[in-house]
This record gives sequence, structure tokens and C-alpha cells, in this order.
Amino acid sequence: MLTDAQKQQYQRDGYIVLPDFKSAAEIAALRARAAQIVNEFDPKGAGIFSTVEQEKTTDDYFLRSDNTIRCFFEEEAFGPGGELKQDKSLSINKIGHAMHDLDPVFRTFSADARLVAVARDLGLNDAQVWQSMYIFKQPGIGGEVRWHQDATYFDTDPVSVTTFWFALEDATLENGCMWAEPGGHRGPMRERFLRTGDDVRMEKLSDMPWPDDSTAVPLECKAGSLVCFHGLLPHYSAPNRSAFSRHAYTLHVTDAATEYSPLNWIQRDASFPVRGFL
Ligand code: FE2
Repeated sequence: MLTDAQKQQYQRDGYIVLPDFKSAAEIAALRARAAQIVNEFDPKGAGIFSTVEQEKTTDDYFLRSDNTIRCFFEEEAFGPGGELKQDKSLSINKIGHAMHDLDPVFRTFSADARLVAVARDLGLNDAQVWQSMYIFKQPGIGGEVRWHQDATYFDTDPVSVTTFWFALEDATLENGCMWAEPGGHRGPMRERFLRTGDDVRMEKLSDMPWPDDSTAVPLECKAGSLVCFHGLLPHYSAPNRSAFSRHAYTLHVTDAATEYSPLNWIQRDASFPVRGFL
């Protein structure tokens, strides 16, 4: 699937951009389904507007989204009185985290034989897909995502987590495209997100600072592009202050030959086993 030059580029930079990976029809189907999920989402019914024990409610809502399908709001979606400043469809930050296994339309998009081949070329011989996210990066209020490494959330020994990031719209400097540190995947894992029951915490693993913005490069790409990146690649995205959304879909994938930490926040058991792309 990948050329030797592309494989070398991935080894060197920690990421690779594959333009025109998904067709306009595939993207349209996924976008329509995401819009439908948001349309059917009832925030009051989901209990996330509870004013009592707001922190606990928010944590529970997040933790119970591990192996289900839930919508999350943009932080800047609300006015001072707690009311939505714009339509619900323009207020959602993301949908997560198991659409790839639970929703037929997302399943179809994710069960792409070419992904098996790309994964193998990137060193994942036996891919396991742990998480899916539909990211909206809404116009005007799309929040910033600070510097991080995705391995923080999907720790395996040795490190294997690889992100498959699909641009569903053009990602530009204006609408908050990702930025990454080329070669930064050769640095250490800075922090690890640990879950014990319903307790979660971030553990610091390294004093290595996040990259200087001056050495980061923007990953601008066209709708339909697939960006694959290494779990240790430092990356971030700026807020979206433009009038255009920046929809993307991500899959987080590890290699079954590695040891998946029992402290990772997403766990599966025999009743809902982790699977490959197909
Ligand atoms: Fe990330």
C-alpha cells in the first residue's frame, strides 16, 4: 500500500499524509450520520446539564462514553446563563468513542481493507481499534487542543498506538488544522492517563518540554486525506476562529502483539472484545 519512500518518511517524521484516501461519497455518508446522531442527542435526557455535582456528572458522562456513543459540547458553546449560544448542531465538540463498533455507518467507513494494509506498512501486524472520535472543530468556537501525545491515552508495551486521522473537510491554518513536531516521536512519553475504576489522573513521566511552536509544522490537508501518526508524535491544534468547521474522524489503533495497559481508560472484555479494522 505504501511506497518505501512513504514508509521512510513515516519513520523519519512520525507521520504521513495520504491525499484522496476517502471519496466524497464516503465522507458525505459519515457526515450525514454524525449530523443525525447530534440531531437525536438530548442533552437534558443525558443528564449533562445537571447543576449538582457538575464535576462528578461530567466525569461520569465521559467515563461511560468509553464503549458507547456520546456527544460532547464545545467548552465555548454556552452563554453566561448556561444557554447554548448557537444551534445544537454547531455546539458539539465531538462524538465518541465506539462508533466504529456500534454504528453501522461508522463501521462501514472504518472497516476499510486498505487500512489493514496501511497499518501493516506502519508496523501494526495485528491491528486493534480501540477508539473512534468524530471531531467537529466548530466555526468560531472550536476549542484548542494543547500539545499532547496520543500514547498518553493508549499505553502499550512497547509503544504501538497509531492514529488514523481522516480529514472530512479541508483542514487549514484558518480553521484550526493540526500542528506536529516532525521527528518528535523519537522523544519520550511525557505523561500517561490512568484509570482505576472511576478515578482518572494524569501521571507525569518525563520533564522533556513540549516542542517550541517555532519548530512545529501545520498539517494542512484536503478533505479525503488520511493522516497517520505515531503515538509519541507531539501534536496540537489551535482554536478555530474562522467561519468554517473542520470535521475530522479518528481511529486509535494498537498492535495485538504488544501489552495493552490495564490502566488505560478504555478497556474491553469478552462481552465486547476489541477488534481489527474488518
Ligand atoms: Fe491527539
